[in-house]
Amino acid sequence: MARDIALITGSSKGLGLVIAKMLASKNVKVILTGRSQFDLNQALSAFPNNEHTAFIVDFCQDTECDQLLDFLVEKKLIPTTLVHNLGGRVEGDIFPLDSEALRRSLKFNLEIAVKINEKFLPYMLKRGQGKIIHIGSDASLTGRASPAYVIAKAALNGYIKTMSQFYAKNSILICGVLPGIMEHENSVWAQKKINQPEYYQKKLEQMPLGRFGTVEEIAIFVSELAKNGSMMCTGGLFELCGAAR
Ligand SMILES: NC(=O)c1ccc[n+]([C@@H]2O[C@H](COP(=O)([O-])OP(=O)(O)OC[C@H]3O[C@@H](n4cnc5c(N)ncnc54)[C@H](OP(=O)(O)O)[C@@H]3O)[C@@H](O)[C@H]2O)c1
Repeated sequence: MARDIALITGSSKGLGLVIAKMLASKNVKVILTGRSQFDLNQALSAFPNNEHTAFIVDFCQDTECDQLLDFLVEKKLIPTTLVHNLGGRVEGDIFPLDSEALRRSLKFNLEIAVKINEKFLPYMLKRGQGKIIHIGSDASLTGRASPAYVIAKAALNGYIKTMSQFYAKNSILICGVLPGIMEHENSVWAQKKINQPEYYQKKLEQMPLGRFGTVEEIAIFVSELAKNGSMMCTGGLFELCGAAR
C-alpha cells in the first residue's frame, strides 16, 4: 500500500506542528499549513529531510482554501490522514453571545474541517480506508470557555458522532481528541500568563495535576491514533485534560 500522507491544518506552530513532527517520525509524509511564510519555512527546516511540504493558506478565505484543496488533488498529494487542528477562539466571542461571532466560530472550528473532509472522503472511500482526527476541546463538555467556542466545539462532537457511524463500514476512522488547557510558546495561555496573571493563576490552581497540559502529551496520543488507531476508536471523543473539571 502507498505511503501515508497527512494534511494537518494549522501546523506552522503549536500543537499542529508537534503532531506533524511526530507523524513524520513514523514515516508519514506531512503537509503543513498556516498563514505565515516565515513560520512555515522555519517549521519545515526542523524536519530531517525534504520530502515534506508546506502551504501558505488562510483557511477562513474560501477561495484560498478551495485553491489549496484543488492543488493537492492536481499534484496527487491526496491525504490518507486528516488532522483538523485548526480552531480556537475568534474575535468578539464574549457574553452576550452575538450571532456573527458564533458564525465565525462555527466556520473556524467546524465548517472548514467539514469542507476538507468533503473533498477527501471520496478518495478515502476508493482506497478503502482513511483516518480523520479532529482536535476539539474539553470545554465542549464542561462549557467552561467563551460561548461561541464552546458551541462550535460541541457541534464538532456531534459531527464526529454522526459521521463516524456512517463511515465505519468503510473503514474510515473518524474521532475527536479533546485537550484541556495547553500551554506552549506564544499560545493563548502563554499570553494570558502575561496579560491576565490572576486569571491564569486561578485556572492553574484548579488543575488536579497542578499544571496545564503540554502539546507533546496531546501530540503523542494524536500521532499514535493517526498511525495505528484501530477502528474501535472511531466515534471516540478522547478527553485529555488531566482530570480537569
Ligand atoms: N491552546 C489550548 O489551551 C487548547 C485547549 C483545548 C483545545 N485546543 C485546540 O487545539 C487546537 C490547536 O490549538 P493551539 O493552541 O495549538 O493553536 P495555535 O497555537 O493558535 O496554532 C494555530 C495554528 O493554526 C494556524 N492558523 C491560525 N489561523 C489560521 C487560518 N485562518 N488559516 C490557516 N492557518 C491558521 C497558525 O498559524 P498562523 O497564525 O501563522 O496562520 C498555527 O499554525 C485548536 O483546535 C484549539 O481549539 C487548544
